[in-house]
Order: sequence, then structure tokens, then C-alpha cells
Amino acid sequence: MSEQNLRPDFHITGQMGWINDPNGLVKFKDEYHVFFQYYSSNVYWGPMHWGHVKSRDLLNWERLPVALFPDEQDDGCFSGTAVVWKDRLWLMYTSYKENGGGENIRQLQAIASSKDGVHFTKHGIVIGEKELPAEYSPCDFRDPKLFIEGDVIYCLVAARRRDGRGRILLFSSEDMFEWKFVFDLFGTDSGGIMIECPDYNKDLGLLTYCEQFQPAVGSKHLNEHSTFYRLGKLDCAAHTHTFGESDIIDYGFDFYAAQIFKDTPVMIGWLNMWDRNVPYSKYGFAGMLTVPRKLSVKEGRLWQEPLYKGRNAVTFNAAEVSDRAVNGVIEIEVENLRRLELKLRAGGGAYTLITVADGELTFDRSVSGAPIKGKETDALSVAGIRKMPVDERKKHKITVVLDLYSVEIFADGRALSSVICPDFSADAIKFSADADSCIYKRCDVSDSMSMEN
Ligand code: FRU
Repeated sequence: MSEQNLRPDFHITGQMGWINDPNGLVKFKDEYHVFFQYYSSNVYWGPMHWGHVKSRDLLNWERLPVALFPDEQDDGCFSGTAVVWKDRLWLMYTSYKENGGGENIRQLQAIASSKDGVHFTKHGIVIGEKELPAEYSPCDFRDPKLFIEGDVIYCLVAARRRDGRGRILLFSSEDMFEWKFVFDLFGTDSGGIMIECPDYNKDLGLLTYCEQFQPAVGSKHLNEHSTFYRLGKLDCAAHTHTFGESDIIDYGFDFYAAQIFKDTPVMIGWLNMWDRNVPYSKYGFAGMLTVPRKLSVKEGRLWQEPLYKGRNAVTFNAAEVSDRAVNGVIEIEVENLRRLELKLRAGGGAYTLITVADGELTFDRSVSGAPIKGKETDALSVAGIRKMPVDERKKHKITVVLDLYSVEIFADGRALSSVICPDFSADAIKFSADADSCIYKRCDVSDSMSMEN
């Protein structure tokens, strides 16, 4: 197998080494830019750079030079945001300074700008200790999100009360350099120890954010860290909001730190999770971003559909199908479903199993290939299982996006994303359904979606 075939076909990865959160999702001069937390020197987290890719169609990605580097200003350039303002592309990121560790760590917000969208100049810290009210800790103050309303530039930043837990703070500016504190969005502590990566999309009326170490509720958010959303609007001038209850964005093992493009309702997340082994890192890279997801609000909740372009579809109008593929997209349409089973990447005793029955989709990676272990100790996590609710409907469409090391499942607007690491030779697919009618369709995406290595 050639070196190139060891990489995912169309998921965004670093050229080598480690990546985590997507950063600064932005459209600039008709091109979509995605940055990401990047450490090219090894397959684990290290001094953070901003890797950079761009695309005209959100399907084919071209690699650009690393956009931000640690230097005398920052020991690491942590997660952040991008905005187009006065014909320039502006990045705001968290400037991380170790300062000997512990209470001396500083996480403060810095900016950089670019005229061409490729080369960036750092301008230093603009939301620092002076702007942060004394009750919040400058050790845990990170992941800014910029948005513009009229003449005012706003910034959401995750913070932690010195005597408490996570908060989301709003700051404002008129010139990108001078910032003032506006208000603490919820004014109460988060469920998890710290909040990370807040994002707000006004058009969708959607706030997303992560909670670290949020205790599970039933079989929901079993991951050590989870990404949530709330629907509602932020009234920055009145210091109020209408955000409702929080819900989980993705039911899988591996989804975190999602961001949304401003004028295009598309979200991308990190297709991985902290504190898990990454078996495919033996090929020199660790971490991928999810396939872009088109977002809408339907039936009072967030609705996600994968963006892809399929070709050469094979279609079976049958309740039992045997097929083969290691990547591509499978679309299943069923009517009056009683039970469905989809076995993927089967071979040599390994397989990944998706079942739908009794209003629930179950994903099982217990024998999917090289074992993947996390810190979670609950029975389902240890067994390699994740579950997602499925609505009671006459018709269902289930879409499975399959790449060399990942399975992303979409059903009724919900998503479940997980890493798998089978042998390359494990390519058998077995589908069976007990339903009044069913269509199994698989399309190839290799000519229409790509990530330059
Ligand atoms: C989230 C996160 C952010 C931080 C970044 C560091 O996954 O912990 O809070 O900015 O990763 O790489």
C-alpha cells in the first residue's frame, strides 16, 4: 500500500503530527479557510501552532503554510477565531504562556492579521488581565469567538471563576485593539469544571461550547468532555439572551470543539477526543476534523446533515445487501423500520456494527480493529458502545460517512461520530433490514472530495 493510502481520503488532517480543535472557520475572498491546533513534530499534543487549509467548495482542501507559530510572544497559540474586517483577515487566538506553570500560567487573547489570507502578522495581546474582571482566573481564559454587529466587534471568551467553574464572557471593541468587558452570559457556573471553545451564530440562533468533565446524564454525554448547543439569541447591547436548555451535538466517542462558518451554516468539529490512544498515529499523524455539516434548526432542535458529493452510486432495493468499501457514503432509506443492521469494515474477525431498533441507534466498535481506550469508566464506554435516539417516523434516512479511520452517522438530523482503526483489508459491508421497504445506496466520493497531503 502506498504512503498516500494510509491517510484519510477526504477528512482534514495535519500534514504530519498532531491536530486538535478546528479554529477560525471563515470565508475570505470567496474561499473557505479552516485553521486547526497543530503540532507537527510529534503525534501527541505539544506547543500549539495554527495549521491552515482552504477550499472553494468545502469538499476539496488545499494545504497552506502554518499560519501562527509560538515565539517570544507565546509559548503556544491556542484555539480561536477569524473574522473579515476592513478588507483584512483577523485572527484572535489565546496566547498561552507557561511562566513556570500552576497559578502563573497565563491564557490571554491576542490578534494577528493578514492581507492575503496566507501570511499573518501578530499584533500582541488585546484582551489581557487588565480587561478581565478580577473574579475570573487568567490561567483559564481562552478560545475567543469574534463576531461583528454594526460598528461593534464582539468577542465571547471561555473563562473560569477563581472560586468556581466555567463561564462564557462577552467583550466589545470598536477598533479590534481596545476591548472592554460587557457581561457574563449565564452568570452561573457550568456543569463541567471549565468551558471551552464557545461559538455563536446569530443567523441560526445557535450557541455552541464544550464542557470539560461534565457528569453524564443517563447514557448522554458519556465522554469525559462533550460539546453542547443552546438555541436562542444574544442581545449584546441589552446584556441579555434567550438561550434555552442545552443539548449534546454529537452522540459519538470522538467529537469536540466544533466551530461554525459565519455566513454559511456549516459546522466542523475535531473528530477525536482528549485522553484516547490514536492507533493510526503509527502512520505519522494523529487527529482529523469531521466532514463539514450543514446546520439548520428544525422541529425545535439542531439539525445536522453531512456535506458530500457522491458519484458512481450502487443502489440495491433489498432487505439484505453484501457490499465492499473502506470509504464513501452509504445512504439508507427505510419505511416502517422494525430493525436494521449495518456491519462495516468487516474482515479477519473484526467489524463495526450499527443497529437501529426500538427508537435507538447503537454504534459498537468493540471489535472494530485496534482497540481505542479512553478515561471513561462507565459500562457502555468500556464496551465500545454509543447510543443515539431515533425518532418515531414512517420514513428514515440514515447516512453513514466512511473514511479510512472514521464513521460519522447521521439520522433524523442527529449525529454520532467515532474513530475506528481496522486493517485496510477489512472492507466487507453487510446490510440487513426488517422494514416495509428499504433502499441501500453507496456512493464513491474519491473523485469529488479530497484533502491534499
Ligand atoms: C480544546 C482546547 C482549548 C485550547 C486548545 C489547546 O480542545 O483544550 O480549550 O485552546 O484545546 O490546544
